[in-house]
Amino acid sequence: MKRIIVLTGAGISAESGLKTFRGSNGLWEGHDVTEVASPQGFAKNPDLVLRFYNERRAQALQAHPNAGHLGLVELEKHFEVHIITQNIDDLHERAGSSNVLHLHGEIRKVRSTTDPSYIIETDGDIHVGDLAPDGGQLRPHIVWFGEQVPMIVPAAQLMSMADIAVVVGTSLVVYPAAGLLDYAPSGTPIFVVDPHKPQISHLPNVEYIVEPASSGIPLLIEKLFQEHKIQ
Ligand code: APR
Repeated sequence: MKRIIVLTGAGISAESGLKTFRGSNGLWEGHDVTEVASPQGFAKNPDLVLRFYNERRAQALQAHPNAGHLGLVELEKHFEVHIITQNIDDLHERAGSSNVLHLHGEIRKVRSTTDPSYIIETDGDIHVGDLAPDGGQLRPHIVWFGEQVPMIVPAAQLMSMADIAVVVGTSLVVYPAAGLLDYAPSGTPIFVVDPHKPQISHLPNVEYIVEPASSGIPLLIEKLFQEHKIQ
């Protein structure tokens, strides 16, 4: 079975009603991202940051996978598919994808600010004063700007084993995620599904499907089935 490594971003969940990051004047749901998605922002106003992520958690729980997420599950019938997502929602898992790596954390998990290994699942709100057993304030299990991205190492390893790479719904401006395609073996075909082409000019073999995920992923599947003679 050929191995497909898929890198997804906010765009794949846009049609599930979850906003992308760089759509509206650089604001994310009305906030400057550094205010709500950085250690400095959390230190300055933990209440605002926790409320912001409580809203994101509630919103993600209300959302449903769309035809884009579901199409990637379909691909598993004929390919070994691994998804590397920058998204904090769990729509890939709820669609039924088997192999999902979250680069930037998961909204349904929280962790201790003092013991990063203490991570628990929660679907409820967290507030200032909600503590882990070690006494540390709970915070979202999210990678904020300026923080390490520990999952980049296994993600790069996965990409280095790609037979085919697929990119869906990411502007490819945030590093280190944006550099992942460079780990694909040279000559790997790369398919990009996005209504606004992100620029990947330094790599050859890039084919753009300039469509939203819900229609672009079915087109991608058609193309892959044709190329690999799958009925
Ligand atoms: N289908 C596919 N792609 C879409 C759709 C759609 N329906 N709607 C929008 N897009 C595309 C946009 O054209 C854009 O290229 O999704 C991309 C979204 O880009 P960003 O908002 O920059 O999101 P992303 O690339 O995931 O951001 C990366 O930045 O703020 C941080 O940690 C956060 O994980 C996030 C990271």
